[in-house]
Amino acid sequence: MNVNASTAAPAKPLALVIGAGGGLGAALVQALSIPGEHGIDRVLALGRSTQPAIDYSDEASLENAAAWVAAQCDAEGAELRLLIVASGFLHGAAGQPERSWAQLDAEYLSEVFRINAIGPALVMKHFLPLLPRQGRCVAGFVSAKVGSIGDNALGGWYGYRAAKAALNQLVKTAAIELKRRNPQALCVALHPGTVDTALSKPFAKAGLKLRPPEVAAKELLAVLAGLEPQQSGTLVDYQGNTLPW
Ligand SMILES: NC(=O)c1ccc[n+]([C@@H]2O[C@H](COP(=O)([O-])OP(=O)(O)OC[C@H]3O[C@@H](n4cnc5c(N)ncnc54)[C@H](OP(=O)(O)O)[C@@H]3O)[C@@H](O)[C@H]2O)c1
Repeated sequence: MNVNASTAAPAKPLALVIGAGGGLGAALVQALSIPGEHGIDRVLALGRSTQPAIDYSDEASLENAAAWVAAQCDAEGAELRLLIVASGFLHGAAGQPERSWAQLDAEYLSEVFRINAIGPALVMKHFLPLLPRQGRCVAGFVSAKVGSIGDNALGGWYGYRAAKAALNQLVKTAAIELKRRNPQALCVALHPGTVDTALSKPFAKAGLKLRPPEVAAKELLAVLAGLEPQQSGTLVDYQGNTLPW
């Protein structure tokens, strides 16, 4: 008998979805809640209306929520193996996506950057340290293909495009730091495709293929499950294709 072998039970794999109140976020939580699928023991859901709540204008709320997740892991003998950030903003009270530079507006730009880039950056600060230092773990930040500079052929949507491009750069940078902590860990930006949610509704044109959030969630989870560590720091779409920055 190896007396040095640990007798502790292996830690249970836990998933966390941030932005769980959105169309895609809720579908991700639902999919991850199906027992026996996705290799997850339990999924935690956080957003603006959960307890604890996450509010991107209040960094203390992120710090508090991260401490809560750490306490859940300790209490359950669990480890955070999957983190998905599904928050995002395209249109609302702060404004609409721009069709021309003439429509650039400081208030809308601030909001679009705050929710699509600054909030997820604060999530990195407070939640990436919760990922285990050994073994496979994945952090997926839902971005958008329109944030790809290399793919920008149409123009328009200045603020949303630029904020998602900023998110992509944050993901790339965090992936480099994360790899130093754990070579098996991944940090990726995700393009979910066009999904039938409140975010896309006003822009759904006839002929545009809108996929139900349940389908998009399933596809994204399958892509995340199949990623290799060397794909960390990339922008991947719902079909598993790597997109240009
Ligand atoms: N739908 C599409 O066709 C499409 C296409 C490409 C990329 N995306 C991206 O996919 C992600 C999910 O979007 P969705 O389609 O599910 O849209 P949605 O239904 O409008 O969900 C928006 C999400 O953003 C969060 N959010 C909104 N305002 C926030 C704020 N002020 N502070 C913190 N969180 C805020 C909400 O979280 P809580 O309500 O839980 O707080 C919610 O999860 C976004 O990153 C979006 O940019 C969507």
